[in-house]
Amino acid sequence: MLPYQPLNRSVAGKTLLITGAASGMGRATAHLFAREGAKVMATDLNGDGVEAVAEEIRADGFSDIQAMALDVADPEALKGAVSATVEAFGALDILINNAGFARPVHPKEEAYEEVWQASLNVMLTAHQRLIRAALPHLMASSEGGRVVNIASTEGLGATPLNGPYVAAKHGVIGLTRAMAVDLGRDGVTCNCICPGPIITGITDGIPDEHKEIYAKRRVPLRRYGIPEEVANITLSLCIPAASYLNGAIIPVDGGMSIKNA
Ligand code: NAI
Repeated sequence: MLPYQPLNRSVAGKTLLITGAASGMGRATAHLFAREGAKVMATDLNGDGVEAVAEEIRADGFSDIQAMALDVADPEALKGAVSATVEAFGALDILINNAGFARPVHPKEEAYEEVWQASLNVMLTAHQRLIRAALPHLMASSEGGRVVNIASTEGLGATPLNGPYVAAKHGVIGLTRAMAVDLGRDGVTCNCICPGPIITGITDGIPDEHKEIYAKRRVPLRRYGIPEEVANITLSLCIPAASYLNGAIIPVDGGMSIKNA
């Protein structure tokens, strides 16, 4: 039998690039990685918002954090974010594709086409572009590069009026599997988290009463999750010890996706 091998469970000193970090799960993830000793490049379409998050993190005593405005729909800006991360911290070990938005639309509406294009651009095409831009650095990462894509339980099924979002999130699951297969030999793992209903900017407009009714009906844990509950699972996928997890699609949904009735 091989001797027992203790594996590294810390992201301390690793460099993280994350999108959509001004709010919700991205913000919680930036906080958590900074607390764990990672160097964090936090980006968001909302430049002021992400700078404010960086200030919060610095105020907590963690100085290895930088913020930058980034529209993930802009291919050149994605390349710029990778360069800025490497310039600031000298490496890029972990990439988290998190930015997203939800805009309800019915197939009969004229706006469907526009929402489709925007959803696919921001929540699918950007992921592959950023992974490919970051790849040389992820491959050079000493203990193996990590990619985590944030999809959704909308990637596993569909709720009404969500077509473009559902299609993008199903695509993220396919992209995760494809990247896992193609990048494994380069020592880069690619995994995906499917959050269920989480209290963030995206669900802000849903009245609390509706949230409660929905959660009690659909979620075995009978409540919405909080962003930190997703951030901690993301972290666990990025530790060096998670070295044999590749291509996994992990629901973080209080059990919603396995509940039949
Ligand atoms: P949020 O609204 O709190 O945060 C999303 C962030 O993405 C915002 O700061 C926003 O400015 C940013 N963003 C939007 N478009 C962007 C663009 N073009 N470029 C760069 N940044 C952009 O929402 P939340 O929930 O934290 O969203 C994070 C991810 O989680 C999204 O991909 C979302 O689809 C996913 N998700 C959310 C669920 C929920 O219940 N809140 C459930 C399942 C998945």
